[in-house]
Amino acid sequence: MSNRGSFSGRIGFILAAAGSAVGLGNIWKFPYLAGQNGGAIFLIVYLLCIVFLCYPVMVGEISIGRSAGTDAYGSYSKLGGKRWGYLGMFGIIVGVMILSFYNVVAGWAFGYFLHISFGDLLNEPDMGGFFGSFVNDILDLSSAKGVANSNFLFSLIFMIMTAFIVARGVQKGIEGANKVMMPSLYIILIGIIVYALTLPNAMSGVKFYLIPDFSELKVQTFFEGLKQAFFSLSLGMGTLMTYGSYLSKKENIPGSAAVIATADTSVAFFAGLMVFPLVHFLQYKLQVDNIATAGPPLIFIVLPQVFHEMGAIVGRIIGGSFFLLVCFAALTSTISLIEVPVAYLVDTKKMQRKNVVWIMALIIFIVGMPTMMSQGMVPSLNKLFFYRGQDFLGFISDMCDISLTVGGCLMCIFISRRWGIQNMDAELAQGNETYMKSALRKYLHVCIRWVCPILLGIMSILVIIEKFIGLENIF
Ligand code: TRP
Repeated sequence: MSNRGSFSGRIGFILAAAGSAVGLGNIWKFPYLAGQNGGAIFLIVYLLCIVFLCYPVMVGEISIGRSAGTDAYGSYSKLGGKRWGYLGMFGIIVGVMILSFYNVVAGWAFGYFLHISFGDLLNEPDMGGFFGSFVNDILDLSSAKGVANSNFLFSLIFMIMTAFIVARGVQKGIEGANKVMMPSLYIILIGIIVYALTLPNAMSGVKFYLIPDFSELKVQTFFEGLKQAFFSLSLGMGTLMTYGSYLSKKENIPGSAAVIATADTSVAFFAGLMVFPLVHFLQYKLQVDNIATAGPPLIFIVLPQVFHEMGAIVGRIIGGSFFLLVCFAALTSTISLIEVPVAYLVDTKKMQRKNVVWIMALIIFIVGMPTMMSQGMVPSLNKLFFYRGQDFLGFISDMCDISLTVGGCLMCIFISRRWGIQNMDAELAQGNETYMKSALRKYLHVCIRWVCPILLGIMSILVIIEKFIGLENIF
């Protein structure tokens, strides 16, 4: 092996890739999307997207990375020539964009972890008001609620933690961090679920989450399910390609991909099982029967209210654990995101990992400033005139969602039209002796040649229309 680094083995790779997949998307976004889109119906649509569209793309992406053994740009250009290299470059830029806003939200979660564990946020009578001023005034260093109130600072610290881990290299840094944080994350998650299920009215939350409501099945459900599945599995921009390049030829790719997809989906599912009993407990306490649970308010306003209701000590323990869980989930994802441009600069540009990591972290932090300032501080970023009055955070995250499905679609075209699906087969057969004769191979062929590029292509176009013009104006 060269000195570019590698995972120690199958477990290290699976934990790192699952760590990338499990993130804010699972804990914060999945539960409310499921809540809004008919509960179990959303779950079914989501699972269909995973099986037919995401799993094949994931296997393809990892195999490209492992076959080329280099970063996203390098992989596409090595296997497909310079022109395809642009697709890799596009992925790297999308990764930078995702991390720029992701790190801001992660910083909020980190701030809340401190405020709840060490400050007196739980005594706050108006959680909505607190969140509003917290995200609005990014530089406020006054010690509100016992802890500094600057989310500029929290995001900066989060980026520094990310860079610190990645600077230590693939095995010591990325793999080591995931080996600690991923098991902890599962334990905390299960612990909170067990506690939440004992609360009054918990079962009403479980029912709301799990009983399907077929009247909610709309075209939008499919869009939301697909975008969420792509984002949640970290597909379509080269994260798994980069991680795949650190995987040994002895390991079984289709098997590992199945474990990664299952781990991610189970955390998303369990997150719902944690959140809805909590929300319904609050409804019971406040004697109301509907609490809006969409968007950032869910974890930053509604859940802190729940922790407040639990009383000073229990609230601090459960609330602190919850935000620690969110921070772990986010940190294992931010390290996977920064690794994409870092690997490019190390492999293709032959720069030193240690230097590159800190420079990238700084650049990405600066790119994140508009997102940070879009929550009220700068009115024009808060209401974009060209994006139906939505804020910059919504805009950039929508643009990234679209880029992921477009990237996945083009990747399938790359495999079947340029690299050659027989080369993917040869790569997958290494580490999996029975692959060549398996039904899985036939299945992957149909998906990568036809199902994925066609459906991903159509969906991407429809999502673009939906975002900029509105589907109702077309159909
Ligand atoms: N999957 C992560 C989440 O759900 C975020 C993430 C990490 C990501 N790496 C990615 C999303 C690459 C898209 C592409 O929070």
